[in-house]
Amino acid sequence: MKLCWVAAYLLLWILLLTADGDSEVSCVFMERCILPCSFQTGKEIVIHWFKVPGDLHVHSFYYSKDQLGHQDQRFRNRTSLFKDQISRGNASLQLTGVQVQDQSRYKCHTSTIRGNQESFINLKVDAPVHEVSIDQVGNRITCSSEGIYPEPQLTWSTSPPSNITFTNTTTVQQPEQLLYSITSSLMVSAGVYDLLFICTISTRRNRRRATLRKLADISAPSTKVTIPCTPPNTTLTNFSLVWSFNHTQTIVKQTGTNVTYSVSDGWKQQVKEVSESGSLVLKDLSSKQEGGYTCELSNAEETHSTNTHLRIIKGGHSNAAAIVTAVLFGTVLVAALLYIYTKVLPSFAPRSPAQEQVGSCSRVTG
Ligand SMILES: *[C@@H]1O[C@H](CO)[C@@H](O)[C@H](O)[C@H]1NC(C)=O
Repeated sequence: MKLCWVAAYLLLWILLLTADGDSEVSCVFMERCILPCSFQTGKEIVIHWFKVPGDLHVHSFYYSKDQLGHQDQRFRNRTSLFKDQISRGNASLQLTGVQVQDQSRYKCHTSTIRGNQESFINLKVDAPVHEVSIDQVGNRITCSSEGIYPEPQLTWSTSPPSNITFTNTTTVQQPEQLLYSITSSLMVSAGVYDLLFICTISTRRNRRRATLRKLADISAPSTKVTIPCTPPNTTLTNFSLVWSFNHTQTIVKQTGTNVTYSVSDGWKQQVKEVSESGSLVLKDLSSKQEGGYTCELSNAEETHSTNTHLRIIKGGHSNAAAIVTAVLFGTVLVAALLYIYTKVLPSFAPRSPAQEQVGSCSRVTG
């Protein structure tokens, strides 16, 4: 009989513990978040929200209104209750502009004339990976992202798989906002083309990929050149497209849903079109347009970059014109020399039979 009571007591405790167990709420950095709390409604409602370590006052409500006299500074203007829901037993707290520092255990304390209640919420904060940038300068490929929480992981791979050795240095910083930045670089041997480098950065909430492909250099005449953009296997529709020059100038921008593209000032003369596959067609080029071209396709999960180096061949139209000019100029020069030799020079010297001969000869040919 005694054992039975002990068992019943233990069971009651287990039930209480599970009922009172903290619920988890996952919040996104800088967004708004709701900490749920419900209670058995009654008269004379009192609500207190505390941040558990240190019992910091987050938000209080009694005498039918908010009471923020003791509110901790860090929650100022960031908290609210659902006023119309309180009488129905809903004491949920809304928190806006969520910070990493808000990650904590919270206590919801309620009381009415019918009694007191307490419940706990475990708030987790995530700053998801937003943008992964990948870039090649010389033989070094660098992949990076910032503003992430909790600590992210970074991995490299290639397609097709290769035995290229990565000199992978990952640094993680944690500045004031407690957010992480991550950077990793690797060296590629010169002349590695068409290999796809894939950098993946992941954290608790999400993961994002960035890829980089370096195509063989293009040599083209100044009149017209098509620089390819190599799209991923998936459809292009949800991607936005940006073409840039030497990593600094934006040439063209295009959003996936809208087929139209906008050409930057300074490139209007050179851009002929952007083809359906994303290739950039250029015309009327000069040596100023020699350099690195990057096509960047990105959507919510991925960014695909394609790098190509363009060289302009001295040739085509301009060279032909130069040859024509040179030939014409040469002909005129020869004619003038012949004229001087046959017509002008003889008048300065007594005629000899030999000179007479040359003169008559030129007269025949001319
Ligand atoms: C309380 O009310 C808010 C706002 O209407 C709602 O989002 C939330 O789910 C409610 N919570 C509970 C515990 O009823």
